[in-house]
Amino acid sequence: EVVSELLGLSQLGDRLSAHLGVANVIVVAGNSDEEEWVKQELGRACMKEIQAIATANDVLAVMGGTTLAAVANMAERNETLASTIFVPARGGLGEKVEIQANTISAEFARRTGAAYRLLHVPDQLSEDAYHSLVLEPTVKDILEVIKSSAVVIHGIGDAQRMATRRHSKDLFIETLEREEAVAEAFGYYFDAAGKIIYKQRTIGLQLNELEGKYVISVAGGKSKANAIHAFMKHRPSDVLVTDEAAARELLQHK
Ligand code: G3H
Repeated sequence: EVVSELLGLSQLGDRLSAHLGVANVIVVAGNSDEEEWVKQELGRACMKEIQAIATANDVLAVMGGTTLAAVANMAERNETLASTIFVPARGGLGEKVEIQANTISAEFARRTGAAYRLLHVPDQLSEDAYHSLVLEPTVKDILEVIKSSAVVIHGIGDAQRMATRRHSKDLFIETLEREEAVAEAFGYYFDAAGKIIYKQRTIGLQLNELEGKYVISVAGGKSKANAIHAFMKHRPSDVLVTDEAAARELLQHK
């Protein structure tokens, strides 16, 4: 669409909001695939949204990834946020420690003055271990805190890229290809229609438990347009923070 090239950032956001059915879309300049500062701008814009929505004593659940790490890096001391609790939305997904949800929630807390709780769940859980772990009193306790969260902040990834980054088995990567997975978020994989193809076995917030929570999605870069589109098909968030390159690409989608 040639028209979109002429649109300013806030108009792009409005267009995209109508296009995706997402109530509020914030667009920052640039393409985070190509320039690191764009991710920082995504972080800054996302932090603004968090500050605007958070109220005293809220529980804020955060996911992992490099984008969420950039958001946490932009967090500043704030009176309201200092009364909140940050928790990881879900357990380990096979990421490096720097970009795990646990680490990121601790970083948000450190910078804002908030409290935090950790969820210790190994990345590779057998079915049996999973079922006994969720019955452990300390795990049950933190799961309740996570489920009581008012705000959820998460990233969206390209399916193949995420599976590779998390060292998934070849067989699994082939399954994703066969099922035409395009997006990953919260440890779930989705096809272009937004249908769940696979869910990684970890505990924490399930996708069907987001009802009544304020969901902020943050994802940018032209290469993530398909993934963002698929996730919003599954369930439009309350806010999408994205960049110009992803936004323009998304507007081409039918
Ligand atoms: O679930 C999505 C991924 O965590 C996104 O990761 O922000 O590093 O692209 P990223």
